[in-house]
Amino acid sequence: MDEEELTQLISKNFHYYQTGKVADYIPALAKVDPKQLGMAIYDLAEKHLITAGDANVRFAIESMSKVPVLLLAINDNGTDKVFQTINTEPTGFAFNSIMNMEINHRKHPMNPFVNAGAIATTSLISGKTPDEKFERILAFMKLICDDPEITLNEEIYRSESKTGDINRSLAYYMKGNQMIEGEVPAILDTYFKQCSVNVTAAGIAKLAAVLANKGVAPWNGQRIVSEKSATIVKSIMTTAGLYDESGEFSVHVGVPAKSGVGGGLMVAVPNRYGMGVFSPALDAFGNSAAGIQLLTDVIQELSADIFD
Ligand code: DON
Repeated sequence: MDEEELTQLISKNFHYYQTGKVADYIPALAKVDPKQLGMAIYDLAEKHLITAGDANVRFAIESMSKVPVLLLAINDNGTDKVFQTINTEPTGFAFNSIMNMEINHRKHPMNPFVNAGAIATTSLISGKTPDEKFERILAFMKLICDDPEITLNEEIYRSESKTGDINRSLAYYMKGNQMIEGEVPAILDTYFKQCSVNVTAAGIAKLAAVLANKGVAPWNGQRIVSEKSATIVKSIMTTAGLYDESGEFSVHVGVPAKSGVGGGLMVAVPNRYGMGVFSPALDAFGNSAAGIQLLTDVIQELSADIFD
C-alpha cells in the first residue's frame, strides 16, 4: 500500500467520525476537534513508514500508554512478577469497571489493559520517587516510538487528575485488598501523567512495529524488549486491547490492537506491520469509531488478518 491508497481509504472512512463522540469524562479531551482521521503504517519488509491524513497531529496517548508501561514493567521486574500481580483474562466489562475484581475474588486485577490492571502495572515501575518513575516512562516512550518530541500535556494531566475519582476508587480498592503495594496518590499521579502524554499516529506505528518485530526496533536493529515480552503483549492486545469490543474486533478485523480515549489505535501485525491510527470520536466502548472502520479496510486490503 502507498500513501495515495491510504489517503483514499481515509477519505472513504472519514464520515464515520459522525457515528462517535469525543470523550468528555475528561474535560480537556472534550475540546478536541472530532473531524480528524490519520494513519501511519510501518512496513517491516520495506523498513519504511507511510503516513496519511492527520498522522502527525499530536493527541493524548491515554490507554495506549498501557502497552509501553507494561513493557517497561516487564523489563524492570520480569514476566513472573508482573503476571503474579496482574492476570491476563479479558473482563467482558467496561475499561473502568470494579466488578471484574469482585468476581475474581479480590485477588488480582484481571488484565493490564483495564484501568485497574494498568494502575497495578504502573505501581511496578522502578524509581525512587514518582518523578523518577514518570521520567523513566517518558524516556521509554520516546525510545520505543522513536519520537524525541513526546511531552507531557499539562492541561490533560490536570484534567485527568481533577476528574479521576473512579481511578482513585479502583486503586484504593486494590490497596485495601492487598492487590497492590505503595502509596495510592503517588501511583495515580504517575498513571495520570502516563495517560496525558502527547503522541502521533506515526510514533504509535513505530511502537507497534517493535512489537510486530519481536521486540527489536526495525529502524536501527536495537532490541528494546524481549521476544517473550512482545509475544505476551500482542496476545493480551488480541484478547483485551479493545475492552468489551475485543471479540467483535477479532472477528471482523483480526489483529492485535490497543485503543485510547484520546482516539488512538495501535495495531501490531506479527512479522509484517506496525500501525497507528488517530480519530478522536469514540464508539460506545471507548474505541475510535472512524479508526476501527479504516482499520477494517486497511487490514483487508493488505490481507493482514492473522486468523486468515
Ligand atoms: O484512566 C482513564 O480513564 C483514561 N486516562 C484512559 C482510559 C482509556 O483510554 C480507555 N480507552 N479507550
